Amino acid sequence: MANRSPYEPFRDLSSPNRNICPVTTELDGSGRLMVGGCLLSQLAERYDTPLYVLDRQTLRSSCVAYREALKKYYPGESLPLYASKANSSLILSNLVAAEGFGLDAVSEGELLTALRGGVPGERIVLHGNNKSDRELYLAYKNGVTIVIDNLHDIERLANLVPKEGNPAQLMLRFTPGIECHTHEYIRTGHLDSKFGFDLDDLEEVLLELKKSNWSVLNGLHAHIGSQIFELDPHRDLAKVMAEALQMARKIGHPIKDLNVGGGLGIKYIESDDPPSIQNWVEVVAKAVFEECLSRDLALPRLMCEPGRSLVANAGLTLYQVGSQKDIPGLKKYISVDGGMSDNPRPITYQSFYSACLADRPLDPTEETVTIAGKHCESGDVLLKEIALPSCKSGEILAVFGTGAYNSSMSSNYNRIPKPAAVMVDKGHSALVQRREGPEDLLRYDIFPEAFLELM
Ligand code: LLP
Repeated sequence: MANRSPYEPFRDLSSPNRNICPVTTELDGSGRLMVGGCLLSQLAERYDTPLYVLDRQTLRSSCVAYREALKKYYPGESLPLYASKANSSLILSNLVAAEGFGLDAVSEGELLTALRGGVPGERIVLHGNNKSDRELYLAYKNGVTIVIDNLHDIERLANLVPKEGNPAQLMLRFTPGIECHTHEYIRTGHLDSKFGFDLDDLEEVLLELKKSNWSVLNGLHAHIGSQIFELDPHRDLAKVMAEALQMARKIGHPIKDLNVGGGLGIKYIESDDPPSIQNWVEVVAKAVFEECLSRDLALPRLMCEPGRSLVANAGLTLYQVGSQKDIPGLKKYISVDGGMSDNPRPITYQSFYSACLADRPLDPTEETVTIAGKHCESGDVLLKEIALPSCKSGEILAVFGTGAYNSSMSSNYNRIPKPAAVMVDKGHSALVQRREGPEDLLRYDIFPEAFLELM
C-alpha cells in the first residue's frame, strides 16, 4: 500500500509548517514514536485519551522563523502577532509573548486569555465584525488596539471612550477584493466578505474618523484567507494596502502600522507543499517595501497575523483505538475515543489529516480503513481511507497537524468532555489544559423550581 507513515526523518526543520509532524519527532530504540523527548504511548497512558499534545520546540521554531525572516527581509520595524483563534490558552499566550510576538484576539475570552497569559495590551489587537460593548471596553481599558471593522464599531466606541480619557488606539480593516484558492468558507478578502470596510467606502470612513477627538488611527489591516499555498495574492495585497496607506496619510492619519493578516498554509498530508515561513515573509516584506518605496511612503511597521502556520504542526492528537466494523467489499471502520467534538475540521471543511500507530509507525500497512469518531453522526469521520497495519483495540493512534483550529473549535456535542492538552519538551511533559469531566458538563445546567416536576 502506497501510504507512507507521516513520520519521516528528512524534514525541513527551519519551517515547521512544511512538516506533517512536530520537528522533534523521532523513534525510540524499539521504533516507537517520540515527540519532545516523550514517548507518545506513555503520554496517552499517563494523561488518558483523547489527548492534545503540543511540542514546545516546534512552536518556538515557528516563532523564530517568523521573527528572523521579518528582520532579514523587512528594513523597517515589524511585529508578528499570533492569531489566537487558532488555539487560545494561557500557556500559548505566554509562550508567544516570550518570543516577542503580539497577539490577535477576537473576543472577550481570547482577550482575557492573552492578558492573563502575559501579553502586554499594547501588543494586542482586537478583531471582530460584531464586537460587544464589554469587549470594546476591556480592550480600550488595557490599551489594546481595536480593529475597526464597520460603522457600528465606531458608533459604539465613540460612546464608550470617556470624554477626558486617553484616545482609543485604532486600526482599520478593509476588504481588499483579492481572490485566493482555498476552501470557500475560509476566504475573507473577497468583496462579499462580512469582514471590514468595502474598499470603495474607505476614503469616506477615513474622512469621518479624522473628525474624531476620541481616537487615533494608527494602522490599516486586511486579511485574505487561510490555508493559502499561493504567494501572488500577498503581492497583490501589498499593492492595495500601500495605496490605502497613501490615502490615509494624505487625509492626515498618523498611520504607522500595516497589518497584512495571516493565511500561510501548512502540510497536513504528503501531497501538501506549502511555502516556507521564510519564503512567505520574504514575499510579503519585499512587496510592502517596494510598494511603499515607489509611492515615496515612509515605511510602516509591518505586522502579520499567523495562526495555523505557527501552531498546527506543533500539535497532534492521541486517540485510543476501540471498536472495528468490517463491511466486506465496502470498507472497514476503526473507531476511536474522540472525533468531531475535538476535531470538527474534517466534517466542516472535508479536510484531510495524516496518522499512524504511535508504537508502530513504520510497520508495513496492511489495510485501508476509515477512522471514525464516537459521535452519533454518520459524518463523524476523522480520516477517510488511511492505510494502516491491522490494529487491535487499545492501540494508540496519533493524528498530526491538530495544533490549530482543533481545541479552539472543539465542542461538547453528545456531552462528550473536551480532551486535556499537554506540552512536551526535552523529555518533560506538563498538563496545560485539564481534561473536562462529566461533572464539568453539568456545571451550567439549572433545575428551576418553577418548572421542576420530578425530584
Ligand atoms: N487574521 C485574521 C483577521 C483572521 O481572520 C485569521 C483567520 C488569521 C489572521 C489567521 O489565519 P491563519 O494564519 O491561521 O490562516 N477554522 C478554519 C480557519 C479559519 C480562519 C479564520 N481567520 C480552519 O480550521 O481551517
